[in-house]
Amino acid sequence: MPTGSVRTQFPLGDRMRANIVWLTTGETGARAPLQQDLRADVCVVGAGIAGMSTAYLLAREGRSVVVLDHGRIAGGETHHTTAHLCNAMDDGFIWLERMHGRDATRLVAESHGAAIARIEAIVADEDIACDFDRVDGYLFEPPGQTTAGLGDELAAARRAGVSVEMVSRAPIDGFDTGACLRFSGQAQLHPLKYLNGLAAAFERLGGRIFCGTHVTEVHGGNEAEVISADGPVVRARAAVVATNAPINNRFALHSRQVPFRTFVIGGIVPRGSVTKALFWDDADPYHYVRLQGAFDPTATTDVLLVGGEDVRVGDVNDDDARYDRLERWARARWPTVGEVPYRWSGQVYEPVDGLAFIGRNPLDSDNIYVATGDSGQGMTHGTIAGMLLTDLICGRKSPWTRTYDPARVRLGAVAAYAKDNLGTAARYAEWLLPGEVQGVDRIPPGEGAVLRRGLQKVAVYKDLQGNVSACSATCPHLGCVVGWNKSQDIWECPCHGSRFDRFGKVVNGPAVDDLASVEAPAGAPKKKRALEPV
Ligand SMILES: Cc1cc2nc3c(=O)[nH]c(=O)nc-3n(C[C@H](O)[C@H](O)[C@H](O)COP(=O)(O)OP(=O)(O)OC[C@H]3O[C@@H](n4cnc5c(N)ncnc54)[C@H](O)[C@@H]3O)c2cc1C
Ligand code: FES
Repeated sequence: MPTGSVRTQFPLGDRMRANIVWLTTGETGARAPLQQDLRADVCVVGAGIAGMSTAYLLAREGRSVVVLDHGRIAGGETHHTTAHLCNAMDDGFIWLERMHGRDATRLVAESHGAAIARIEAIVADEDIACDFDRVDGYLFEPPGQTTAGLGDELAAARRAGVSVEMVSRAPIDGFDTGACLRFSGQAQLHPLKYLNGLAAAFERLGGRIFCGTHVTEVHGGNEAEVISADGPVVRARAAVVATNAPINNRFALHSRQVPFRTFVIGGIVPRGSVTKALFWDDADPYHYVRLQGAFDPTATTDVLLVGGEDVRVGDVNDDDARYDRLERWARARWPTVGEVPYRWSGQVYEPVDGLAFIGRNPLDSDNIYVATGDSGQGMTHGTIAGMLLTDLICGRKSPWTRTYDPARVRLGAVAAYAKDNLGTAARYAEWLLPGEVQGVDRIPPGEGAVLRRGLQKVAVYKDLQGNVSACSATCPHLGCVVGWNKSQDIWECPCHGSRFDRFGKVVNGPAVDDLASVEAPAGAPKKKRALEPV
C-alpha cells in the first residue's frame, strides 16, 4: 500500500447496497498517516470503540499515547453498530451463571453497568453532543413461546445485581408482547458523534492519532515495537491491539470465537409513534430494536432501527432475504413503519463462553494487550476494555481481570469450543469442492465469485463495466477459502473472519496481508488492481 493511503473499511462497491443511518448525520474521522518513528508510553492499534476508549482513559492518567489505524476513526465495526448500551446481557443471565458461576456473572453485569456510567461521564466531562440517552430495555418472548422462562431469567438478573422487573407487556402499540422484563438504566447514543468527540478529547490531552497506517507486526519485550507496512515504527512501554480481531494472535484467541454476520434495517416512523426504548426478543437468532431520533429537531419523523437475522460468516449468502424478513418482522410490530431507506450488515465475534477477551495477550510478552470477542455488546465491551486495560497498564488491580482474562478456560465452554472448531475445520474442506461458479461469464456485473483454476482457487470480481480483477482466494491468515459477501462488496473468510476489499486488500484481521495477486482469468477484460477511493 503506498504511503498515506487510507484503507476504506467496508467500502461500498459499484452498487451501493448498504446505507448506514449514522453516515447521514455523522462521519468517520480522518487523520494524517504516520511518517516517522515515534516513542510513547503506549501504542494502541485500532481506532474503534475499544482502541479509542483505552487511548483516552490512558491519556487521562497522564500517559503519552499514540493510536494507529489503517482506516479511519470509527470506520470499522463501530460505524455498523446500533449502539444499544446494556447491562442486560444478550446471552441471558441464566446461561452466564451456568458458564461462569454466580460471582463472575455479577462482575459481568457490574462491568457493563460501569461502562455505561463511564460513557455518560465522558459525554458530560468532554461535552460531547452524541444523542446519549438513558432508556429502559424490554426483553420479550417470540409469539407462541411460553413466558415461563422469563421468571427464571428475572431471578438470575436480580442475583447479578441488575435493576429489572416483570411487566405485563412492552410499550409497543398494537402488538401484545405478553409479559416481559423491563431493565432500567440502559442507554443509547450516536456512535460516530461519540467516537469523534472521544478522539478530539484524547487529542486535547496530548494524544496522537494516525490514520492510513497499516500495522503488520507487534512485538513485546523490554520495549514494545509496533511496525507499520510503510516502515515507521512506534516504540512504547506497552502496546494494545484493538483491531477487533487481533492481528498479533495467530491462533490462541481465534479458535475460541466465531465470526457472525448481523443485519440492520432502518425504517421511517412518525415522531411520537414509537416509545423511545431498547427492545429485544428471545428468538433464535434474536431481534434488537431502538429508536434514533432528533437528527433534525424540527423533523416530524424518527428512524426505527431493527437488527437480527445473525448467521455464521460463510454459511449462506442470502442477505436480501434477511433484510426482507427483518422488515416484515418490524412492520408486524410497528405498523407505522413507512419507507425503509437504511440497511446494512456487519460482523461480530461470538466468544464460546459469551465474554470478551480483554487483557494480556496469551503466550506473549507481558506488555502486549488485546481486546476482542465483542459479541453483540461490543460498545460496552470496548469501554470495559478501556477501563480494564488502563488499570492493568497503570499497575492497578481490577476486579474484572479474571473475568475477561484472554487465557481463561471455562469447562462449560469446552463442548461449544469443539463444535465451533468442527465448523471451522469444515471450512478448510472448501479446498476439495469445485469453485463457486464455472466461468467469468457466470458472474453478474458488480459481483464477485470464486473460480477454480487447476489446483488454485481464484477470487474474481467483475465491475459494472465488465472489467475483471482477480486475486488468490486463499486467506493469508491460515489458508481457508474466502467467499464473496454481496451485502458489503467484500471478500470474507469463514474461518476466523478476515475481510478483504473487492481487489483483495486486507480490511480487517486476523490476516495482515492482502490476498495474493494472480492473473485475471483468460479472456476477461482486465482491471488493474487498484486502491479503493477514499
Ligand atoms: C450491525 C451491528 C450491530 C451492533 N449493535 C451493537 C449494539 O447495539 N450494542 C453493542 O454494544 N454492540 C453492538 N455491536 C458490536 C459493536 O459495534 C462492535 O463490537 C464494536 O464496535 C467493535 O469495536 P472495536 O473497537 O473492537 O472494533 P472496530 O470498530 O472494528 O475497530 C478496529 C479498528 O482497527 C483497525 N485495524 C484493523 N486492522 C488493522 C491493522 N492491521 N492496522 C491498523 N489498523 C487496523 C480498523 O481499521 C478499525 O478501525 C454491533 C455490531 C454490528 C456489526
Ligand atoms: S481468517 Fe483465519 S484462515 Fe482466514
